[in-house]
Amino acid sequence: MIDRSTIERILDAAQIVDVIQEFVPLKKRGVNYLGLCPFHNEKTPSFTVSPSKEIFKCFGCGKVGNSVNFIMEHEHLSYPEALKFLARKYHIEVIEKELTAEELEKQNERESLLVLTSYAARQFAENLFQSDEGISVGLTYFRERGFRQNTLKKFELGYCFEKRDAFSRRALDDGYKKDFLLKTGLSIQHEEYIFDRFSGRVMFPVHSLSGQVLGFGGRILKSDIKTSKYVNSPESEIYHKSRILYGIYQARKAITQEDRCYLVEGYTDVLSLHEVNIENVVASSGTSLTQEQVRLIKRFTPNITILYDGDPAGIKASIRGIDLVLEEGMNVRIVLLPAGEDPDSYSKKVSNEEFTGYLKEKETDFIRFKTQLLLEEAQNDPVRKANLIRDIVKSIAVIPETITRTIYIKECSTVWEISEAVLYHEVNKLRQQRTFQDRNKYPGPEDLPLPPPSVPKPLRYEPSTQFSEKEIIRLLLRFGSAELERKIQAEDGQEEVTAVSDYIVREITSDDLTFDNSVYARIFEEFRFCTKLGIFPGDKQFVKHEDPEISKLSADLLSDSHELSRIWKVKHTYVETEDMKLRDLVPDAVLKFKSDKIKARLKEIMGQLEEAVKAGDTETVLALQKRDQNLKVALRLISKKLGNRILL
Ligand code: CTP
Ligand code: MN
Repeated sequence: MIDRSTIERILDAAQIVDVIQEFVPLKKRGVNYLGLCPFHNEKTPSFTVSPSKEIFKCFGCGKVGNSVNFIMEHEHLSYPEALKFLARKYHIEVIEKELTAEELEKQNERESLLVLTSYAARQFAENLFQSDEGISVGLTYFRERGFRQNTLKKFELGYCFEKRDAFSRRALDDGYKKDFLLKTGLSIQHEEYIFDRFSGRVMFPVHSLSGQVLGFGGRILKSDIKTSKYVNSPESEIYHKSRILYGIYQARKAITQEDRCYLVEGYTDVLSLHEVNIENVVASSGTSLTQEQVRLIKRFTPNITILYDGDPAGIKASIRGIDLVLEEGMNVRIVLLPAGEDPDSYSKKVSNEEFTGYLKEKETDFIRFKTQLLLEEAQNDPVRKANLIRDIVKSIAVIPETITRTIYIKECSTVWEISEAVLYHEVNKLRQQRTFQDRNKYPGPEDLPLPPPSVPKPLRYEPSTQFSEKEIIRLLLRFGSAELERKIQAEDGQEEVTAVSDYIVREITSDDLTFDNSVYARIFEEFRFCTKLGIFPGDKQFVKHEDPEISKLSADLLSDSHELSRIWKVKHTYVETEDMKLRDLVPDAVLKFKSDKIKARLKEIMGQLEEAVKAGDTETVLALQKRDQNLKVALRLISKKLGNRILL
């Protein structure tokens, strides 16, 4: 927990242009700054930063927010993480809630381990580039495999000397504790001796999302030695292999930009794809894919393309990964490499263009992939064929979204020439079993068995007050302190000025109306509170609000698109801006808000009436009818007033 005053200090220090400029080159345009949007691919800049409003907005992809939102989005950080990021930038000390002794110890241990792993990575890299042994053994090996210098640097590759305890000795001499050397697994104790786990290997540091070194993979160079090809760090406080994806740190930007992630098997596959300029790639590093790894990718993109080596035995072992991806509701595509090739070998065999062309052309959905892979084996054996189809149906059944399932059922029906109705039946049967086993996974109406496809029912209209609620909040944020009307008091000749916020707060509270949307409700409550005290909350109070929901929404509502879209339509000859017509806009918005609320209330009454009639409760029926009539009268009055003006 970061305390409130620290948050305020951070928000005050984080000037939006300053924060964003570090990541996006900006040019001044009038009062704003303009640049190329980092969240989508664009050639002409539509990413706008407003220093006065302290917000950014991309008119291309619609992303909007304040400086904290920018860091959250750009660096894929949570709200507190983003605050800490900014605190570091502006040298603000973050005061956090006190940790318990146990938490503190754990945190300290984690930090000590991380300090050690990053020291180790530096040592190994130094060995590789600066020592005779490193250059002649390690660097030569990497060069022979075709990895360029900047790839080696980007991945902080290294070399661990052959001498059995060279690294451990050095680390102890440099003051690192034996306890931590053992806990990170960099060293191994045998009786009273301490050895290097990775001696004589080239080193692949494994990074966290934010670039910290969590552990290592080490590859042996000689092929004749009877020891396993790779040795990896053991599980520790910082290294959990099921939660790690090799290459995620180096890939995250490209994954967002390309909106796709390639998934490969090994360290060298990742490096090789970078060599051919495909940077949106990660590896599960030899272990079978886990749900946590899939979710890690999902933070950046819903689209995964799995590259399978061209060896059927290996694929069958890892085909479960497809279901995991489907289960998370992500879109999966698959590329099968030619027989005997993995991404590393194949990318080197053919030209870069051929390789990228291959990935584009050969990618296929999982139904065709499984069919292609297993059909040959099934030959014309009907039992085996049925099993194969069942296998595919199982994969379809784990997909959480109905629409996606429907599409795949169609696809499967086309590929196998089986009627959709039969496939639906099978899928639903499996889903019901699954629901039974695992209720939490598929909650809600999704669980109900699906009927075979039929004509879709028209959606029932639900009266919604969202839009009118939003408009009220927008007007409050944008024009809250603007003057709405000015009257001369008859008694004393004094001028009385009513501001927009006075008017709105008065109208809404006097009718006891409330907001359904909880974020709007919170914003309104702050306005009501301030109005009572006779002060105007500035819009900054909301854009810089400590509640991230409020700050994001305010930034969105304060961005220009909302006003111009409606008024700017006709021609550029004369633009009537909103502040010129507040006198119409504000009362209309309030009326619209009230009429929507009444409609919603009427609908409720209708339901209660039905109940009461069924129950034969005459007294309640009469009371409700009366209420219904009164509300309808009020509604008619409002409609009449609104009807005389143009409704926005
Ligand atoms: N792996 C491992 N331990 C092994 C073999 C493999 O941890 N004994 C992991 C490594 O993360 C490796 C991945 O499984 O990167 C894939 O294995 P493989 O294809 O054999 O290795 P490559 O990455 O292709 O390595 P190379 O090209 O150097 O043979
Ligand atoms: Mn390989």
